[in-house]
Parts: sequence; structure tokens; C-alpha cells
Amino acid sequence: MNITIDGRTLHCEVHGDGPAVLLVHGFPLSGRLWDPVVASLRQEFRLIVPDLRGHGLSAATPTATVGDYADDLAALLDAIGESRPVALVGMSMGGYVAFEFCRRYRRRVGALVLTNTRAQADTAEAARGRRETAARVRLEGSAIVADAMTPKLFGPDAPKALREAWRAIMAATPPDGVAAALLAMADRPDSLATLAGLDCPILIVAGEHDAIAPPADAQAMREAAPHAQLEIVPATGHMTVVERPDRFVAALAAFLRTLDAKPGR
Ligand code: MLT
Repeated sequence: MNITIDGRTLHCEVHGDGPAVLLVHGFPLSGRLWDPVVASLRQEFRLIVPDLRGHGLSAATPTATVGDYADDLAALLDAIGESRPVALVGMSMGGYVAFEFCRRYRRRVGALVLTNTRAQADTAEAARGRRETAARVRLEGSAIVADAMTPKLFGPDAPKALREAWRAIMAATPPDGVAAALLAMADRPDSLATLAGLDCPILIVAGEHDAIAPPADAQAMREAAPHAQLEIVPATGHMTVVERPDRFVAALAAFLRTLDAKPGR
């Protein structure tokens, strides 16, 4: 379905019925990331799968902040009548957005799943690199990011067809969407204190060979939130969700099923 926020289209798929789970993809990906979760868990949960602004089928804006993405998610929940606390699942940039959502809408979060992400802000050098890439993307198109990211996204065992399918999704992300997301990530705040202050159930998932958010970043999040569960999935890179969907879905499902007070129940 498409909803309209401030005159912009935000695309979202909503599947199933049950406790609400909001699944937020990474950069510059789309809601397609969560297809394995939808296929396995739609009978048990209400799965809310947006394309972030400027990604997938959602309209871009020339600039964005992690706060803008978080506000879009809150507007989306309102638009679909979801007032219960959700289990919020964020992959990579989706995790950065999830932290901001927790800062702004804490009462709407019943549980948090952080996969292939990190809580630290960018270093000054990394932020500078993102700003330079954003300027290049506006001139040269999104393919430069798709080409640079594809080799870093996957673990050594990922099939060629999977790599090619995701390269195509990244290359199809509009340049405005890619550039805005790069600037949003460069400017995002550090979230370790946010994480440390969260008392809801938390699951952290990492890929053994993740070159973008390595297991050490997951360990740092676990140290900030000692009550969190940590699962390191062997033989996967940054795209754990689609590289080992069986392992990811099993970890997610087990976590969602054992929540003391199920979100949305
Ligand atoms: C992502 O997968 O969302 C991004 O690669 C995260 C990042 O660049 O920090």
C-alpha cells in the first residue's frame, strides 16, 4: 500500500495479524530485504514492512535526517492504525533509524532487534567520505554506490545470483534517496547511551564476516546493553537476513515468541 505523508508517497507492505513487528531495511536497500521473514512469520505476527523514503517505491526528498526517517515510521504506524508498542527490527541504517525512533517514540517500542548494525556514530573521516560520495551520486548516479557496496555486503559463500539481485536493487535506488541517506548517516548521533538506557527486550544479530558492521560492533552494543541477547550467525556478511534466512528467521522468531509481554498483545 502507499500512504501519503506531507504530499509524499511512502510505500509499505503489511502482512498478517498478531503482535506488531516493524521491519526497517538498510542502505540503499528496500523492504524486499525482509521477504524471508514475511514468508515464514506472516501467520503469527503483523509484519509492517516500509520502504524508507527515497528507497524502493517510496518517494525521495533531496535531504533527510535519521529523525525524518523515524518520523515517517511513526506517521506510517498512525496511518495503518497501529497504536500498540511494536517489536522494532532495524538492519544496518535501519538500526540507526531505530535508535532515533527509540529516542523520539520510546513508548511505541516494546522490543528491539538490531541486526548487522552498530550504535557508534561515524568517525569524522567516515562522515567526510559519505558527504563526498553523496555529491558524486547526485552527478554520476546510484550505480557508483551499488558497485562499491556489492563486494562488501556479502560473506564468501553468498551465491552470485543473490549478489546480482541486490546490486540491481541498490542501483535502482534514486540518486536523491541515496545521497540523502548518506548525509543522514554522516550526521547521525552516537547511540550507545540510548541503547544503554533501554529496558525493553533486545536481540542483537551479527554476521561472522560482516565487513560493514563487524561482530566487534555487536559486542560493543551488548556491552552497552548487557541484558540483550547476542547471536552471531556463521558464514554470513552484512546481509545475514538474506544470506542465511533460515538462521535469521529462527533467531528472530525465537526472540519474538519468548518476549515476556508480547508487543502488541
Ligand atoms: C547499511 O547497510 O545500511 C549501510 O551500509 C550502513 C553504513 O554504511 O553505515
